[in-house]
Amino acid sequence: MRRSLVVGNWKMNGTLASSELLAKGIISGLDSNKADIAICVPYVYLPSVSELVKGTALALGSQNIADKSSGAFTGEISASMLKEFNCKYALVGHSERRSFYGDTNESVAARFSQALEQNITPILCVGETLEQREQDQTFEVINEQLDAVINLVGITAFNSAVIAYEPVWAIGTGKTASDEQAQEVHFYIRQYIAAKDQAIADKIQILYGGSAKPENAKGLFAMPDIDGGLIGGASLDAESFLKIFNSI
Ligand code: 13P
Repeated sequence: MRRSLVVGNWKMNGTLASSELLAKGIISGLDSNKADIAICVPYVYLPSVSELVKGTALALGSQNIADKSSGAFTGEISASMLKEFNCKYALVGHSERRSFYGDTNESVAARFSQALEQNITPILCVGETLEQREQDQTFEVINEQLDAVINLVGITAFNSAVIAYEPVWAIGTGKTASDEQAQEVHFYIRQYIAAKDQAIADKIQILYGGSAKPENAKGLFAMPDIDGGLIGGASLDAESFLKIFNSI
């Protein structure tokens, strides 16, 4: 049995005060350890939220990570810096990074590798745009996104990684993939990994992301290859995030 994982991606939202309040709200409402739970908060709030989650079941993650270890890279945040604030996870290759900030499959692979160097678990985000889905390119796109990472770090690196399938057309649109649509791609991803290493495929957590909310989480999480969720908008409210978590 794979353990499930629910991760909140706060994106660029909130203030210091609201972030602290939200983290406290999640911690105080957490009454089950049947699955893992984490929040990926804006960089500048990591120091403060890191103190709040200490000793609790709520883990911390970053929303991105530099593709280099240190040096003259203005504006970047390295894996070792994130480690200092107890980041357990780092999102890599979120579609908003890929589409608005030029993250390529190659730079995503380098970020993934940097995370592993510091024992931070990368959450590799993959997924197709609406146009790519309509042109039947979903699997091809996902192959390329996975291959770039596998080619750099090798399949065994996926022993300490998480994959998040986030169809771009479902992110922030209110348009969720149906349980079956999501399961089809999750199954495909697991088979793709299995062709290279069956044990890793059996064990790796594959999360669904894209307009997941309390109303649809149960159905999605009941699918055999969906091991939890990467939650955007609905993770900004402690109650709805916890409802999603409790749907596991
Ligand atoms: P929404 O849940 O707001 O659609 O965002 C999903 C997402 O991008 C999580 O990383």
